[in-house]
Amino acid sequence: LRAVGIIGTGKYVPEKILTNSDLEKMVDTNDEWIVSRTGIKERHIAAPEQATSDLAYEAAIKALESAGMTADQIDLIIVATVTPDTFFPSTACILQDKLGAKNAAAFDLSAACSGFVYSLATATNFIKTGMYNNALIIGADCLSRITDYTDRNTCVLFGDGAGAVVIGEVPEGRGFQSFDLGAEGSGGPLLNLAGGGSRLPSSPETIQDKNHFIYMNGREVFKFAVRVMGSATEAVLTKAGKTKEDIDLFVPHQANIRIIQSAMNRLDLPPEKCIINVDKYANTSAASIPLALVEAAEQNRMKEGDTILMVGFGGGLTWGACVLVW
Ligand code: ACO
Repeated sequence: LRAVGIIGTGKYVPEKILTNSDLEKMVDTNDEWIVSRTGIKERHIAAPEQATSDLAYEAAIKALESAGMTADQIDLIIVATVTPDTFFPSTACILQDKLGAKNAAAFDLSAACSGFVYSLATATNFIKTGMYNNALIIGADCLSRITDYTDRNTCVLFGDGAGAVVIGEVPEGRGFQSFDLGAEGSGGPLLNLAGGGSRLPSSPETIQDKNHFIYMNGREVFKFAVRVMGSATEAVLTKAGKTKEDIDLFVPHQANIRIIQSAMNRLDLPPEKCIINVDKYANTSAASIPLALVEAAEQNRMKEGDTILMVGFGGGLTWGACVLVW
Protein backbone atom coordinates (compact mmCIF):
# COMPACT_ATOMS: atom_id res chain seq x y z
CA LEU A 1 0.00 0.00 0.00
CA ARG A 2 1.19 3.49 -0.85
CA ALA A 3 2.22 6.05 1.77
CA VAL A 4 -0.18 9.01 1.64
CA GLY A 5 0.43 12.48 3.05
CA ILE A 6 -0.21 16.19 2.63
CA ILE A 7 1.39 17.79 -0.43
CA GLY A 8 -0.30 21.23 -0.40
CA THR A 9 -2.12 23.52 2.07
CA GLY A 10 -4.28 26.65 1.91
CA LYS A 11 -6.70 28.60 4.07
CA TYR A 12 -9.23 31.41 3.86
CA VAL A 13 -11.22 33.44 6.35
CA PRO A 14 -13.68 36.17 5.40
CA GLU A 15 -12.59 39.79 5.96
CA LYS A 16 -15.27 40.89 8.39
CA ILE A 17 -14.34 40.47 12.07
CA LEU A 18 -16.90 40.27 14.86
CA THR A 19 -15.26 41.07 18.21
CA ASN A 20 -16.42 40.31 21.73
CA SER A 21 -17.22 43.99 22.21
CA ASP A 22 -19.41 43.89 19.08
CA LEU A 23 -21.30 40.99 20.69
CA GLU A 24 -21.69 42.97 23.92
CA LYS A 25 -23.93 45.30 21.90
CA MET A 26 -26.03 42.41 20.57
CA VAL A 27 -26.64 40.17 23.62
CA ASP A 28 -26.17 40.29 27.40
CA THR A 29 -22.53 39.17 27.50
CA ASN A 30 -19.08 40.60 28.08
CA ASP A 31 -15.50 40.14 26.91
CA GLU A 32 -14.34 38.83 30.29
CA TRP A 33 -16.98 36.04 30.34
CA ILE A 34 -16.27 34.98 26.77
CA VAL A 35 -12.46 34.99 27.12
CA SER A 36 -12.39 33.21 30.49
CA ARG A 37 -14.92 30.51 29.48
CA THR A 38 -13.81 29.95 25.89
CA GLY A 39 -10.54 31.75 25.01
CA ILE A 40 -12.29 33.44 22.06
CA LYS A 41 -11.61 37.13 21.31
CA GLU A 42 -12.94 37.49 17.78
CA ARG A 43 -14.31 35.52 14.84
CA HIS A 44 -14.57 36.08 11.07
CA ILE A 45 -18.00 36.32 9.42
CA ALA A 46 -18.81 35.68 5.77
CA ALA A 47 -20.12 38.58 3.66
CA PRO A 48 -23.80 38.34 2.67
CA GLU A 49 -22.89 37.23 -0.87
CA GLN A 50 -20.45 34.53 0.32
CA ALA A 51 -21.52 30.92 0.76
CA THR A 52 -19.49 27.94 2.00
CA SER A 53 -18.27 27.04 -1.51
CA ASP A 54 -16.84 30.55 -1.91
CA LEU A 55 -14.76 30.15 1.25
CA ALA A 56 -13.76 26.64 0.16
CA TYR A 57 -12.75 27.94 -3.29
CA GLU A 58 -10.30 30.51 -1.88
CA ALA A 59 -8.66 27.90 0.37
CA ALA A 60 -8.59 25.30 -2.43
CA ILE A 61 -6.87 27.64 -4.92
CA LYS A 62 -4.07 28.23 -2.39
CA ALA A 63 -3.72 24.52 -1.62
CA LEU A 64 -3.45 23.66 -5.33
CA GLU A 65 -0.86 26.39 -5.80
CA SER A 66 1.19 25.14 -2.86
CA ALA A 67 1.02 21.58 -4.26
CA GLY A 68 2.11 22.90 -7.67
CA MET A 69 -0.98 21.35 -9.29
CA THR A 70 -3.76 22.48 -11.58
CA ALA A 71 -7.40 21.75 -10.82
CA ASP A 72 -7.79 19.33 -13.71
CA GLN A 73 -5.17 17.04 -12.14
CA ILE A 74 -7.34 16.42 -9.07
CA ASP A 75 -9.02 12.97 -8.87
CA LEU A 76 -11.33 13.49 -5.88
CA ILE A 77 -12.83 16.43 -3.97
CA ILE A 78 -14.34 16.00 -0.52
CA VAL A 79 -15.89 18.97 1.29
CA ALA A 80 -16.49 18.46 5.00
CA THR A 81 -19.27 20.81 6.07
CA VAL A 82 -22.51 21.16 8.03
CA THR A 83 -23.40 24.36 6.21
CA PRO A 84 -23.53 23.33 2.53
CA ASP A 85 -24.54 25.99 -0.03
CA THR A 86 -27.63 23.87 -0.73
CA PHE A 87 -28.93 20.40 0.24
CA PHE A 88 -28.05 19.42 -3.28
CA PRO A 89 -26.06 19.74 -5.42
CA SER A 90 -23.31 19.14 -2.91
CA THR A 91 -20.88 21.92 -2.07
CA ALA A 92 -18.12 19.68 -3.48
CA CYS A 93 -19.87 19.63 -6.89
CA ILE A 94 -20.35 23.41 -6.82
CA LEU A 95 -16.65 23.76 -5.97
CA GLN A 96 -15.61 21.27 -8.67
CA ASP A 97 -17.29 23.51 -11.24
CA LYS A 98 -15.78 26.73 -9.84
CA LEU A 99 -12.30 25.24 -9.87
CA GLY A 100 -12.68 23.59 -13.27
CA ALA A 101 -11.64 20.28 -11.68
CA LYS A 102 -13.38 18.38 -14.46
CA ASN A 103 -11.64 15.04 -13.79
CA ALA A 104 -12.60 14.87 -10.11
CA ALA A 105 -15.32 12.89 -8.38
CA ALA A 106 -16.91 15.11 -5.72
CA PHE A 107 -18.99 14.67 -2.60
CA ASP A 108 -19.68 16.27 0.79
CA LEU A 109 -19.04 14.56 4.09
CA SER A 110 -21.17 15.32 7.14
CA ALA A 111 -19.44 14.74 10.47
CA ALA A 112 -19.62 18.28 11.91
CA CYS A 113 -16.36 19.40 13.54
CA SER A 114 -14.83 15.94 13.00
CA GLY A 115 -15.55 16.17 9.28
CA PHE A 116 -12.06 17.15 8.16
CA VAL A 117 -10.38 14.17 9.85
CA TYR A 118 -13.17 11.85 8.62
CA SER A 119 -12.54 13.17 5.09
CA LEU A 120 -8.77 12.71 5.36
CA ALA A 121 -9.29 9.08 6.40
CA THR A 122 -11.74 8.47 3.56
CA ALA A 123 -9.54 9.98 0.85
CA THR A 124 -6.35 8.38 2.19
CA ASN A 125 -7.85 4.95 1.68
CA PHE A 126 -8.86 5.76 -1.92
CA ILE A 127 -5.24 6.68 -2.63
CA LYS A 128 -3.60 3.87 -0.63
CA THR A 129 -5.50 1.28 -2.63
CA GLY A 130 -4.64 2.94 -5.95
CA MET A 131 -8.18 3.95 -6.97
CA TYR A 132 -7.07 7.61 -7.08
CA ASN A 133 -3.67 9.32 -7.08
CA ASN A 134 -4.63 12.47 -5.18
CA ALA A 135 -7.48 14.30 -3.49
CA LEU A 136 -8.43 17.83 -2.49
CA ILE A 137 -9.91 17.88 1.01
CA ILE A 138 -11.59 21.01 2.34
CA GLY A 139 -13.11 21.70 5.74
CA ALA A 140 -15.40 24.71 5.25
CA ASP A 141 -18.25 26.14 7.27
CA CYS A 142 -20.35 29.30 7.50
CA LEU A 143 -21.65 28.74 11.02
CA SER A 144 -22.81 32.38 11.13
CA ARG A 145 -25.64 31.31 8.79
CA ILE A 146 -27.06 28.87 11.36
CA THR A 147 -26.27 30.86 14.51
CA ASP A 148 -28.99 32.63 16.49
CA TYR A 149 -27.48 36.05 17.29
CA THR A 150 -30.04 36.58 20.04
CA ASP A 151 -28.84 33.48 21.98
CA ARG A 152 -25.81 34.34 24.12
CA ASN A 153 -25.24 30.65 24.94
CA THR A 154 -24.17 29.90 21.36
CA CYS A 155 -23.59 33.10 19.36
CA VAL A 156 -20.27 33.91 21.04
CA LEU A 157 -18.79 30.53 20.11
CA PHE A 158 -18.85 30.30 16.31
CA GLY A 159 -17.12 31.74 13.22
CA ASP A 160 -16.66 31.13 9.49
CA GLY A 161 -13.66 29.88 7.50
CA ALA A 162 -12.11 27.21 5.30
CA GLY A 163 -8.93 25.13 5.29
CA ALA A 164 -7.79 22.91 2.42
CA VAL A 165 -5.15 20.29 1.76
CA VAL A 166 -4.09 18.28 -1.27
CA ILE A 167 -3.09 14.75 -0.38
CA GLY A 168 -1.16 12.27 -2.48
CA GLU A 169 1.65 9.73 -2.45
CA VAL A 170 4.65 10.62 -0.27
CA PRO A 171 7.93 8.79 0.42
CA GLU A 172 7.71 5.62 2.57
CA GLY A 173 7.77 6.39 6.31
CA ARG A 174 6.03 9.74 5.93
CA GLY A 175 2.33 10.61 5.69
CA PHE A 176 -0.68 9.31 7.64
CA GLN A 177 0.26 6.59 10.13
CA SER A 178 -3.12 5.95 11.76
CA PHE A 179 -6.70 7.15 12.12
CA ASP A 180 -9.25 6.76 14.90
CA LEU A 181 -12.82 7.68 13.95
CA GLY A 182 -15.87 7.20 16.10
CA ALA A 183 -19.48 8.13 16.70
CA GLU A 184 -21.88 8.18 19.62
CA GLY A 185 -25.19 8.72 17.84
CA SER A 186 -27.12 8.56 21.11
CA GLY A 187 -25.68 12.00 21.88
CA GLY A 188 -27.05 13.52 18.67
CA PRO A 189 -29.72 15.62 20.41
CA LEU A 190 -27.03 17.39 22.48
CA LEU A 191 -25.81 19.35 19.45
CA ASN A 192 -28.02 19.67 16.38
CA LEU A 193 -29.94 21.67 13.83
CA ALA A 194 -33.38 20.14 13.83
CA GLY A 195 -35.29 21.93 11.08
CA GLY A 196 -35.38 21.75 7.31
CA GLY A 197 -34.69 18.04 6.90
CA SER A 198 -37.07 15.16 6.19
CA ARG A 199 -37.92 14.81 9.91
CA LEU A 200 -39.02 18.41 10.37
CA PRO A 201 -39.41 20.12 6.99
CA SER A 202 -39.16 23.91 6.82
CA SER A 203 -42.41 25.67 7.68
CA PRO A 204 -43.49 28.94 9.29
CA GLU A 205 -43.53 27.04 12.61
CA THR A 206 -39.93 25.79 12.29
CA ILE A 207 -38.84 29.38 11.67
CA GLN A 208 -40.83 30.66 14.63
CA ASP A 209 -39.43 27.88 16.86
CA LYS A 210 -35.85 28.68 15.72
CA ASN A 211 -35.34 25.14 14.42
CA HIS A 212 -32.96 26.37 11.73
CA PHE A 213 -30.32 27.43 14.24
CA ILE A 214 -27.69 25.43 16.13
CA TYR A 215 -28.96 23.97 19.39
CA MET A 216 -26.31 22.95 21.90
CA ASN A 217 -26.22 21.57 25.42
CA GLY A 218 -22.86 23.18 26.21
CA ARG A 219 -22.12 21.40 29.48
CA GLU A 220 -22.79 17.90 28.13
CA VAL A 221 -20.84 18.56 24.92
CA PHE A 222 -17.97 19.87 27.04
CA LYS A 223 -17.84 16.62 29.06
CA PHE A 224 -17.99 14.49 25.90
CA ALA A 225 -15.22 16.59 24.32
CA VAL A 226 -12.80 16.23 27.22
CA ARG A 227 -13.44 12.48 27.37
CA VAL A 228 -12.98 11.69 23.67
CA MET A 229 -10.08 14.09 23.08
CA GLY A 230 -8.24 11.94 25.62
CA SER A 231 -9.41 8.51 24.46
CA ALA A 232 -9.07 9.20 20.71
CA THR A 233 -5.57 10.61 21.19
CA GLU A 234 -4.47 7.51 23.09
CA ALA A 235 -6.07 5.16 20.54
CA VAL A 236 -4.53 6.83 17.51
CA LEU A 237 -1.06 6.95 19.09
CA THR A 238 -1.23 3.25 19.94
CA LYS A 239 -2.34 2.37 16.39
CA ALA A 240 0.65 4.34 15.03
CA GLY A 241 3.05 2.59 17.44
CA LYS A 242 3.89 5.92 19.04
CA THR A 243 3.70 7.49 22.49
CA LYS A 244 2.77 10.99 23.66
CA GLU A 245 6.50 11.79 23.91
CA ASP A 246 6.72 11.40 20.11
CA ILE A 247 4.30 14.28 19.42
CA ASP A 248 6.05 17.29 17.84
CA LEU A 249 2.88 19.26 17.14
CA PHE A 250 -0.63 18.88 18.53
CA VAL A 251 -3.42 20.27 16.30
CA PRO A 252 -6.69 20.06 18.24
CA HIS A 253 -10.18 21.18 17.18
CA GLN A 254 -10.49 24.82 18.22
CA ALA A 255 -13.79 24.93 20.14
CA ASN A 256 -12.77 26.06 23.60
CA ILE A 257 -9.39 26.81 25.17
CA ARG A 258 -10.31 24.87 28.31
CA ILE A 259 -10.96 21.68 26.30
CA ILE A 260 -7.61 22.13 24.52
CA GLN A 261 -5.80 22.73 27.81
CA SER A 262 -7.24 19.63 29.41
CA ALA A 263 -5.97 17.58 26.45
CA MET A 264 -2.55 19.24 26.69
CA ASN A 265 -2.35 18.43 30.41
CA ARG A 266 -3.22 14.81 29.75
CA LEU A 267 -0.45 14.63 27.12
CA ASP A 268 2.06 16.67 29.25
CA LEU A 269 2.53 18.95 26.25
CA PRO A 270 4.36 22.29 26.53
CA PRO A 271 2.60 25.26 24.84
CA GLU A 272 5.11 25.39 21.96
CA LYS A 273 3.92 21.95 20.83
CA CYS A 274 0.28 23.00 20.47
CA ILE A 275 -1.44 25.17 17.86
CA ILE A 276 -4.03 27.50 19.36
CA ASN A 277 -5.96 30.00 17.22
CA VAL A 278 -9.42 29.77 18.80
CA ASP A 279 -8.82 33.36 20.01
CA LYS A 280 -8.88 34.68 16.41
CA TYR A 281 -11.37 32.41 14.65
CA ALA A 282 -13.61 30.86 17.36
CA ASN A 283 -15.14 27.47 16.50
CA THR A 284 -15.32 27.12 12.71
CA SER A 285 -16.51 23.48 12.81
CA ALA A 286 -15.01 21.45 9.92
CA ALA A 287 -12.62 24.32 9.09
CA SER A 288 -11.12 24.43 12.56
CA ILE A 289 -8.46 21.69 12.33
CA PRO A 290 -7.30 22.57 8.79
CA LEU A 291 -7.16 26.30 9.68
CA ALA A 292 -4.89 25.39 12.60
CA LEU A 293 -2.79 22.99 10.51
CA VAL A 294 -2.36 25.45 7.65
CA GLU A 295 -1.41 28.23 10.07
CA ALA A 296 1.22 25.93 11.57
CA ALA A 297 2.59 25.29 8.08
CA GLU A 298 2.63 29.04 7.31
CA GLN A 299 4.56 29.66 10.52
CA ASN A 300 7.07 26.92 9.63
CA ARG A 301 6.23 25.06 12.80
CA MET A 302 6.53 21.65 11.11
CA LYS A 303 9.69 20.17 9.66
CA GLU A 304 10.19 17.02 7.65
CA GLY A 305 9.79 13.92 9.82
CA ASP A 306 7.80 15.67 12.60
CA THR A 307 4.93 13.74 14.19
CA ILE A 308 1.66 15.71 14.05
CA LEU A 309 -1.43 14.68 16.01
CA MET A 310 -4.80 16.08 14.90
CA VAL A 311 -7.91 15.42 16.98
CA GLY A 312 -11.44 16.77 16.96
CA PHE A 313 -14.98 16.15 18.18
CA GLY A 314 -18.37 17.47 17.19
CA GLY A 315 -22.00 16.97 16.33
CA GLY A 316 -23.18 13.42 15.72
CA LEU A 317 -21.72 13.07 18.23
CA THR A 318 -18.48 12.20 16.47
CA TRP A 319 -14.74 12.25 16.95
CA GLY A 320 -11.73 11.82 14.70
CA ALA A 321 -7.98 11.71 15.25
CA CYS A 322 -4.95 11.00 13.11
CA VAL A 323 -1.18 10.73 13.36
CA LEU A 324 0.74 12.25 10.45
CA VAL A 325 4.48 12.25 9.81
CA TRP A 326 5.19 15.53 8.00
N1 ACO B 1 -22.19 35.65 28.31
C1 ACO B 1 -22.50 35.70 29.62
N2 ACO B 1 -23.08 34.69 30.27
C2 ACO B 1 -23.36 33.57 29.57
C3 ACO B 1 -23.06 33.45 28.21
C4 ACO B 1 -22.47 34.55 27.58
N3 ACO B 1 -22.15 34.54 26.27
N4 ACO B 1 -23.42 32.24 27.78
C5 ACO B 1 -23.95 31.60 28.84
N5 ACO B 1 -23.90 32.40 29.93
C6 ACO B 1 -24.35 32.10 31.27
C7 ACO B 1 -25.34 30.97 31.30
O1 ACO B 1 -26.63 31.47 31.04
C8 ACO B 1 -25.16 30.43 32.69
O2 ACO B 1 -25.96 31.22 33.55
P1 ACO B 1 -26.91 30.50 34.61
O3 ACO B 1 -26.00 29.69 35.48
O4 ACO B 1 -27.54 31.66 35.29
O5 ACO B 1 -27.85 29.67 33.78
C9 ACO B 1 -23.72 30.76 33.06
O6 ACO B 1 -23.25 31.64 32.04
C10 ACO B 1 -22.79 29.57 33.13
O7 ACO B 1 -23.04 28.65 32.08
P2 ACO B 1 -22.27 27.29 32.01
O8 ACO B 1 -23.00 26.40 31.08
O9 ACO B 1 -21.93 26.78 33.36
O10 ACO B 1 -20.88 27.74 31.38
P3 ACO B 1 -19.70 26.79 30.99
O11 ACO B 1 -18.56 27.04 31.87
O12 ACO B 1 -20.15 25.37 30.79
O13 ACO B 1 -19.32 27.37 29.56
C11 ACO B 1 -19.60 26.85 27.25
C12 ACO B 1 -20.26 27.33 28.52
C13 ACO B 1 -18.50 27.81 26.89
C14 ACO B 1 -20.64 26.81 26.14
C15 ACO B 1 -19.00 25.45 27.47
O14 ACO B 1 -19.95 24.62 28.03
C16 ACO B 1 -18.47 24.83 26.23
O15 ACO B 1 -17.50 25.28 25.64
N6 ACO B 1 -19.06 23.70 25.83
C17 ACO B 1 -18.58 22.97 24.67
C18 ACO B 1 -18.97 23.70 23.45
C19 ACO B 1 -18.39 23.02 22.27
O16 ACO B 1 -17.25 22.62 22.25
N7 ACO B 1 -19.19 22.88 21.26
C20 ACO B 1 -18.70 22.20 20.13
C21 ACO B 1 -19.58 22.54 19.08
S1 ACO B 1 -19.00 21.60 17.78
C22 ACO B 1 -20.02 21.68 16.42
O17 ACO B 1 -20.31 20.66 15.90
C23 ACO B 1 -20.50 23.04 15.93
